[in-house]
Amino acid sequence: MDYRARRNEVHALKDVSLSIQQGEVLGVVGESGSGKTTLALAVARLLSSPPAIHRGGRILFGGSDISRTSPSGIDSLRGTGIFMIFQDPFLSLNPLMRVKDQIVEAVAVRSKRGSRPFDRGAARLEAISHLKTVRIGDAEDVAERYPHQISGGQIQRVMLAMALAERPQLLIADEPTTALDVTTQSQILAVIKDIVQQTKMGVLFVTHDLAVAGVVCNRIAVMYSGMIQEAGPTDKILFEPKHPYTMGLINSMPSKSKGDGSLIAIKGSYNPVGLEGICSFAPRCPLAREACQKGVPAQNPVDGSMVRCVNYGENYEP
Ligand SMILES: Nc1ncnc2c1ncn2[C@@H]1O[C@H](COP(=O)(O)OP(=O)(O)OP(=O)(O)O)[C@@H](O)[C@H]1O
Ligand code: SF4
Ligand SMILES: [Mg+2]
Repeated sequence: MDYRARRNEVHALKDVSLSIQQGEVLGVVGESGSGKTTLALAVARLLSSPPAIHRGGRILFGGSDISRTSPSGIDSLRGTGIFMIFQDPFLSLNPLMRVKDQIVEAVAVRSKRGSRPFDRGAARLEAISHLKTVRIGDAEDVAERYPHQISGGQIQRVMLAMALAERPQLLIADEPTTALDVTTQSQILAVIKDIVQQTKMGVLFVTHDLAVAGVVCNRIAVMYSGMIQEAGPTDKILFEPKHPYTMGLINSMPSKSKGDGSLIAIKGSYNPVGLEGICSFAPRCPLAREACQKGVPAQNPVDGSMVRCVNYGENYEP
């Protein structure tokens, strides 16, 4: 997936391959610009073209290739069984509708998808019960408000209540807790875990924060320069990282800060110039050597993970 920018093309996603099972939370982690949102929007088919250019590849959802069908907006996306939560929740909620009515609409979407009759009165009661499930204390009161009358944390809870009402097969959450304080963040993560357990929906969870991914994800895919550099079970990624970029991300977590509180950042920043045909992390990698310049490293299976690094086999993309 590329973007046509003013002067050149940006290769936003390259050779990305992922799968999500029902009841599984897959985390996509990486620094700013690594392609996380592009991946989320591509799966949701919410990328508009132009500027996005689809260069090939398939998105299999329940066995059908949906990569060529356009949902042309959030409403028709939701009819397909995919539900998306954005970092800025005002992108998802209708500012002109009361909270209660937006959840009732989500119940209507579910009824329509399952070709079942829709009862508005019952849906209103259901809306309140979902608000309670996502731990909104004053559910009856919040239900009557408009989005601008509730906090950012409450809005994300309302989005999760909508997901409960709609029961998508796939929930895509792009940095759903990034704008929230730490306490609210951990409460929302707990709600997400509960919802997954209760409904068995699959979740694509995008975050730049490995610690957050560690709380909620079963598996983690680490992205850099539009490619998955390492993917595996959460414990393997957090406690036995293999790719130097993953190691750098872990070392730069606040829990690993130096005695004076300063963070151990990965040196430099991503710049795509001159990286065609080599490991894209090479200019920043403390372990870079000649073999890293011979081609784009292929993914190597290592101990239950996939690692795109020559340290685990000098294999290159064709
Ligand atoms: N509409 C667009 N037009 C041109 N280039 C874009 C567009 N959207 C994203 N890009 C570029 O694609 C690359 C991936 O961007 P993306 O937003 O997917 O990254 P991200 O990992 O979500 O970053 P962040 O953590 O900052 O949200 C970046 O180089 C970005 O500049
Ligand atoms: S291939 Fe080389 S440059 Fe790339 S991550 Fe591995 S050691 Fe570092
Ligand atoms: Mg993003």
